[in-house]
Amino acid sequence: MIQRTLVLIKPDGVQRCLSGRIISRFEDVGIKIVGMKMIWVDGDFAKNHYFEHVEKDFYQGLETVLTMGPVVAMVLEGVEAIPKVRKLVGSTEPHSAEPGTIRGDFAHVSYGYADKNKLGIKNLIHASDSPGSAEKEIKLWFDDKEIHSYKNVHDVHIYN
Ligand code: RTP
Ligand code: MG
Repeated sequence: MIQRTLVLIKPDGVQRCLSGRIISRFEDVGIKIVGMKMIWVDGDFAKNHYFEHVEKDFYQGLETVLTMGPVVAMVLEGVEAIPKVRKLVGSTEPHSAEPGTIRGDFAHVSYGYADKNKLGIKNLIHASDSPGSAEKEIKLWFDDKEIHSYKNVHDVHIYN
């Protein structure tokens, strides 16, 4: 099943100049970029996006990290793209994320360190975790006219 998913390169990824290398991970497996822009969100927007976490102890740190600079927001499309992208991204905590995943290869900090120092976890990237959240998050970040249907070189092997 072809799915669309929302991916954000968070401000830590943008500021560490990793956007290109992160985008390549998705392009390399044949997942298609159908929407992409740079946007600097405020606290209200962050609360909408991470509404499920607003009451949690770590939320303030999370909001601080998400609003500290612009993010690169993308809509990615591919076969079962929602779980596939989560797999490429890796576990939430960089310390636990497997080598070979984006979080495992480009970050290493633990929850213990972040919590002790009252820091948000800088784990580079967000990806929708289910079809329901993908639908909501794509609507929150993108207008319909910012999402494009087009053919690329992978289509010949995906649809045939
Ligand atoms: P994301 O939503 O950003 O893709 O991350 P995720 O699904 O892997 O993890 P989630 O549980 O949704 O958490 C959202 C973001 O909150 C921060 N976090 N900090 N200190 C902590 O215990 C903690 N737990 C989560 C991370 O930045 C995580 O990406
Ligand atoms: Mg999440």
